[in-house]
Amino acid sequence: MAKRKRRNGPVAKPAASLPPIAPGLVSPTRRVPAEIERPPYGVSGDPGPSVSSLVRTPDEIAAMRRTGAAAAEILLRAGELVEPGITTDEIDSVVHDLSVEMGGYPSPLNYRGYPKSVCTSVNEVICHGIPDSRPLADGDIINIDVTLFREGVHGDTSATFLVGDVAPDSRRLVEVTLESLMLAIAAVRPGGPVRDIGQAIDPHAAKHRLGVVREFIGHGVGTEFHTNLQIPHYYDRRLTTPIEIGTSFTIEPMLTLGGPEAAMWDDGWTAVTIDGTRTAQFEHTLLMTEAGAERLTVTAAGECAHDRLPAAAPEPVAVFGATFSETLASGDRDIPT
Ligand code: MF3
Ligand code: CO
Ligand code: CO
Repeated sequence: MAKRKRRNGPVAKPAASLPPIAPGLVSPTRRVPAEIERPPYGVSGDPGPSVSSLVRTPDEIAAMRRTGAAAAEILLRAGELVEPGITTDEIDSVVHDLSVEMGGYPSPLNYRGYPKSVCTSVNEVICHGIPDSRPLADGDIINIDVTLFREGVHGDTSATFLVGDVAPDSRRLVEVTLESLMLAIAAVRPGGPVRDIGQAIDPHAAKHRLGVVREFIGHGVGTEFHTNLQIPHYYDRRLTTPIEIGTSFTIEPMLTLGGPEAAMWDDGWTAVTIDGTRTAQFEHTLLMTEAGAERLTVTAAGECAHDRLPAAAPEPVAVFGATFSETLASGDRDIPT
């Protein structure tokens, strides 16, 4: 039997992001005024075992809409800060002050001992990056993950932002990750199984040769930061837990340019890809309704930071030796088919 010819040749392995992210200096703990209501772990750092229902009461739902809108507003403002030269500690300072100004507590602060008020995850950092003295560099990508506790409930939302001029493969990663979140939101149905989420995300990531992180997942969220509901972003047919009407939860896919396997820094928080390739994430807090999943982390005007991602340029297509974009640039608009 003849050996099948490879049509496209071997696929190059995606390269590690260089230079690698290294830990910087972490500034002293920021204070929250005494009049701000703290979550139960605020002082001890220990959230204890989850005891809350997965389903919210009408009053809790009303509170989650308001807290979700405030979290969305903070994420929008944090995203506006992103440019080469700003440190992740400066972003933390603004998120902290805005949270307090809006009458809330920045949920990450002292959650299981986490030292800062927001998570900032740059390039190959998958999630839970600790803000520090590192300035953002032109070409970086950064996920900012904001969670606000107010009126007894949490609103949890994140977006990945482009720093200056970002390479096409990273832009595609960011764009496909956002698409994955949107596909998953559209896929879930009242009473439908959790596996619908992975079933929407996995094939979309695979089509773009991107990995889906398995070691970190979405979660129920409400009066507690993390409830017992687990929301994996990969497909597994055994994930049959139904998402009942009234359930509040997150979807927060993390996609990778290379392998999805994670390693943890010595700080016990920062999760990075083992192969050093870049990774992106987007997150919304959602409420399951009769009509499907409603986004709670949007402003009163229905806005969120996700809407502001500039569309990635189309990948160049080879046309008779030149690339599609070169052909366009040369003024020759008659593209042969
Ligand atoms: N916001 C993260 C999530 O989406 C959790 C951060 S926990 C922290 O679940 F302690 F790192 F802040
Ligand atoms: Co979350
Ligand atoms: Co989050």
